[in-house]
Amino acid sequence: MYVLGIETSCDETAAAIVVDGKKIISSQVSSSLEFHSKYGGVVPEIAFRIQLETIAQVTDDAIKKAKIKLSDIGLISVTNQPGLLGSLLVGIAFAKSLSLARGIPLLGVNHLYSHIYANMLADKALRLPFTALIVSGGHTSIFYIKDFDQVTVLGQTQDDACGEAFDKVAKILGLGYPGGPLIEQLAKKGDAKKIKFNCSDTDRKLDFSFSGIKTAVLYYIRDNRPSSIILRPSNKSISKADVAASFQEAAIDTLIKKSLLACEMKKTKSLAIGGGVAANSRLREKFVKEATKRGVKCFFPPKSFCLDNAAMVAGFGYRLFKKGYISDLRLGTN
Ligand code: KG4
Ligand code: ZN
Repeated sequence: MYVLGIETSCDETAAAIVVDGKKIISSQVSSSLEFHSKYGGVVPEIAFRIQLETIAQVTDDAIKKAKIKLSDIGLISVTNQPGLLGSLLVGIAFAKSLSLARGIPLLGVNHLYSHIYANMLADKALRLPFTALIVSGGHTSIFYIKDFDQVTVLGQTQDDACGEAFDKVAKILGLGYPGGPLIEQLAKKGDAKKIKFNCSDTDRKLDFSFSGIKTAVLYYIRDNRPSSIILRPSNKSISKADVAASFQEAAIDTLIKKSLLACEMKKTKSLAIGGGVAANSRLREKFVKEATKRGVKCFFPPKSFCLDNAAMVAGFGYRLFKKGYISDLRLGTN
């Protein structure tokens, strides 16, 4: 069955055609990032105006690239939560119109669960039940996935999301936006052992807190008066690259510690990781190393499917549809 996925929860406008929840035959992603970068973050008003202008074309491109006709589509799966309200409404309204005009079934799906499903698209060896970590610009959550419609939240961030912390630390270091890939690049030139940063403790063991470590980086930079590369003379040997590497390592260590604790608590031997931060090479490498020591197998989508895309939305929608889930024209953002 051909499923059209539509994703507009943040700055991307994405459409994809996926067959039977597995085979991606087209995946189009149009980003409005260049219009946000000078503001240091996504401006919701700009995002949804651009999505309004691009959604029809992006969807048409996905259908043409798949070499199918609209009448071949058996389901429209659209992200309906969580995300930027105006952006979500653009995708939902477009999906509803198409559904109504062409009599195609409609299903609203959760963006975070779609990120988890990106692992099922990519790696057929991943079997239910498993533990999942979603680590993106808006969320940092650990889930237990018993089935596609039986997802339990085991822990989540109490303040900033991990990707948000990468973005804010990048800003403190005078890098651009989005900060994650820039921190990753700079960190490659630094020594992660130079500065000891830590993520704050949380009352519940599987929750996260990234606000304190971001502030620690801010104070470190302020107190050491950075020049372009080398910090204050007494710290001559410490560079911004060391700060980036030390921050990145502390953030990754926390993600690993809590995710593996969740695997232990739920007695799962598979850990699926998704969301934009899961594109980080150091994170992937260290997760595999630490998980292997405990007999846990890590799953990652290919890097391009860690970031927001509509193939994961189409795939996840197909699985729920097969279980009998369906939306109607009352579909909203919750
Ligand atoms: O999943 P995503 O595309 O959008 C959300 O749903 O939030 O994630 C975007 C986030 C941004 O905060 C970005 O800085 C971060 O993912 N990110 C990374 C990397 N690539 C993207 N963080 C660390 N390392 C990366 N390579
Ligand atoms: Zn996302």
